[in-house]
Amino acid sequence: MSTAATPARRYAAPGRVNLIGEHTDYTGGLVLPMAIPYETVAEVAPRDAGYRFTSASFDEVRETAADDTSAATGEWSDYPVGVLREVLALGVAVPPCEVHLSGNVPLSAGLSSSASIEVSTALALLRYAGASLHEKELALLCQRAENRYVGAPSGIMDQFVVTAATQGHALLLHTRDLEYELLPMNTGALAECSIVVANSMVKHSVATGDYRVRRQELENGQGAIRKRFPQVRDLGESTLEQLEAVRGEVSHEVYLRCKHVITENTRVRDAAEAMRAGDAARLGRAMVGSHLSQRDDFQDSVPEIDFLVDTALTLPGCHGARLTGGGFGGCTANLVETAHTGAFSEKLRAAYRERYGKDAEIYVCTAADGALARLKAEEAQ
Ligand code: GLA
Repeated sequence: MSTAATPARRYAAPGRVNLIGEHTDYTGGLVLPMAIPYETVAEVAPRDAGYRFTSASFDEVRETAADDTSAATGEWSDYPVGVLREVLALGVAVPPCEVHLSGNVPLSAGLSSSASIEVSTALALLRYAGASLHEKELALLCQRAENRYVGAPSGIMDQFVVTAATQGHALLLHTRDLEYELLPMNTGALAECSIVVANSMVKHSVATGDYRVRRQELENGQGAIRKRFPQVRDLGESTLEQLEAVRGEVSHEVYLRCKHVITENTRVRDAAEAMRAGDAARLGRAMVGSHLSQRDDFQDSVPEIDFLVDTALTLPGCHGARLTGGGFGGCTANLVETAHTGAFSEKLRAAYRERYGKDAEIYVCTAADGALARLKAEEAQ
């Protein structure tokens, strides 16, 4: 931790879309997300005593104090309060203040509105207290807030990319050691493509049961593999052969979930190679493979999402489509030639409306800066 210079006026953190590497980030695997040009902004103002959190999106106003040990309430404000608690737990003396949050990251869509609230709040509180953290510590603090106080058992992907992303790049993160590589999105044929995010409007939440159950299943399978092969640290370095060797010791569900994760890590490596080579068709194939694995093995898709993926793949200029984020609703990520994004979006929306009678929101995204790059740009002004 170090003492900061002049505080910035606003602390903005983006949402994210994961290109590939789903449910691999809590068993030591690989993920390949990018930040999107939608953000949460935290503004901090002095107060006489205690802390107050308000939001442009929610009516609830939350007041708390440094010695408040009450449990989470289940409201939106648990996210910033969880962050406050983790900042205080570091021994940082945060002066009394009000934090107001606003922004345009779609909520409950699997685009990390939670992580964008956490990271923007953490930056606001830390800067207000004259402190700062390096990117890994900042992301880990926000993950702890979500895991411990909010009670959502998320991995590290969202908080990390929201913190550390760089414009024009996807971020290949090794979740075991948090080493990462920035992969340019403008290489070869990829320069002619955009990421189109389609929101099924089926609400997604990491805090609810399904995510927790999947995580437990993976931990069971990982435990069985590690018992048989003690040199293996986690699913991130397990092989299908090792999984087959313990197949008789785990349930069929556990077997399928682990199969998804092991094959998904291979697909992320393949996708990263495709990106380095600027090979849009190969990246698209990896994305489709990922979706099928989620649908059939991890089983975290829903009919609306499968419909969006199947439809997208019939449309001109689409190289790949998949469920993105925590699953059980939320969004699809589509790799689409930029020249086709207008017609693609229109046709996808029309087909969805016809089939489900509701409008899918579509966001055409380029890879945006993470919170630290935004802060740096802000402070340079
Ligand atoms: C949610 C979690 C992440 C990750 C994804 C699935 O977004 O917050 O940590 O596990 O689901 O890949």
